[in-house]
Amino acid sequence: MSGDDRKLDGAARAAEIRDEVAAQVAELARQGVVPRLDAILVGDDPASEVYVASKARTLATLGMLSETHRLPENTPQAALEDLVDRLNADSDVDGILVQLPLPGNLNTSAILHGVDPAKDVDGFHPENVGLLLNGHPRLVPCTPAGIMEMLRREGVEIKGRRAVVVGRSDIVGKPMAVLLLHAHATVTICHSRTRDLAAVTREAEILVAAAGVRSLIGPEHVAEGTVVVDVGMHRVTDRETVERLYPGNEKKMAAFEKRGSVLAGDVDYTRVAPIAGKITPVPGGVGPLTIAMVAANTVAAAQQRRDL
Ligand code: GUN
Repeated sequence: MSGDDRKLDGAARAAEIRDEVAAQVAELARQGVVPRLDAILVGDDPASEVYVASKARTLATLGMLSETHRLPENTPQAALEDLVDRLNADSDVDGILVQLPLPGNLNTSAILHGVDPAKDVDGFHPENVGLLLNGHPRLVPCTPAGIMEMLRREGVEIKGRRAVVVGRSDIVGKPMAVLLLHAHATVTICHSRTRDLAAVTREAEILVAAAGVRSLIGPEHVAEGTVVVDVGMHRVTDRETVERLYPGNEKKMAAFEKRGSVLAGDVDYTRVAPIAGKITPVPGGVGPLTIAMVAANTVAAAQQRRDL
C-alpha cells in the first residue's frame, strides 16, 4: 500500500464539515440569525495566538461573527471572571471560548465553570462534561468530536474494536475515551504512569495519541494495520531533530528551510506509517478538524439557545 492510501485525511474531512456548517449558517441567516463566537486570549503564547487567529478566520469565512478579547498576562482572576459574566449576559454572543492554557496565576477551572453552559463551545463546563458522560451530549469538546467525525466519514469501524487512548487530559483524552466507548469500542486509557506502554498500545486496533509528548509512539507501540490518530502538535526548531524524524523527506526539509521549524506529532510518523493501517499526518490531520468543530459547535449553540 502506498503512503497516501494509508492517510486519514483530516484536512479533507474538515473541509467537508466546514461546507456543511456554511450551509447551516446560510439557513440561520434566512431566519435573521448570525452566530457569534467570542474568544478570550490571556497573555501572548505564540501557539495560542495561532489557534485563536485560525478560529476567527474560519468563522469569518463561514459567514459567522467572531470577537477576540485580548487580555494581558497579569490579568487578575476577577477581571477575567467579569469578562466571562459580561459575555454570558450578552444575548448577541452564542459561543464563548477561553483559550487554554491560561497563565499560571489564574484558576482555570473556576473560569471554565463560570462560562454559561449553553455558550460553552469547548464543552469544558461540568454540566456539558456530565451530559457527555451520561450519553446525552450537548456541546462536545472539539478535538475528540472532530476525530469521531473523521473516523465516521473515513468508514473506520469502531463497534467492538479495541481502542487505546494515550493521554488523560480533560480536553482530549477523557472525552475521546467516552466517545469511543459510546461508539461501542472496548477502550483503554494510558498515561504517564502506565507500565509497559507498548504492550498496551500494541493491543489497539484504533490508537489515539494525545499525551503531548513528541514522538512518544514509535513502531514498537503499534500493531500491523492499526488506525493511528495523532493529536500531538510540537514545533521542532533544530535541524538535527528534523533530519532524524524525517530522514530523506525532502518536503519536510524544504518546509524547515522556509520557516525555520516544522510541526511534529506524538507519533513518529516516518517509522509508524509503514505499519499502520491508516494514520493522520501532522500537520493536516487533527488540527483542521478541531477548528471545523469550533465552527460547528458555535452553530449548534446558536441553534440550541434559540430552540431552532
Ligand atoms: N488549547 C488547546 N486545545 C484547546 C481547545 O480545544 N480549546 C481551548 N479553549 N483551548 C485549547
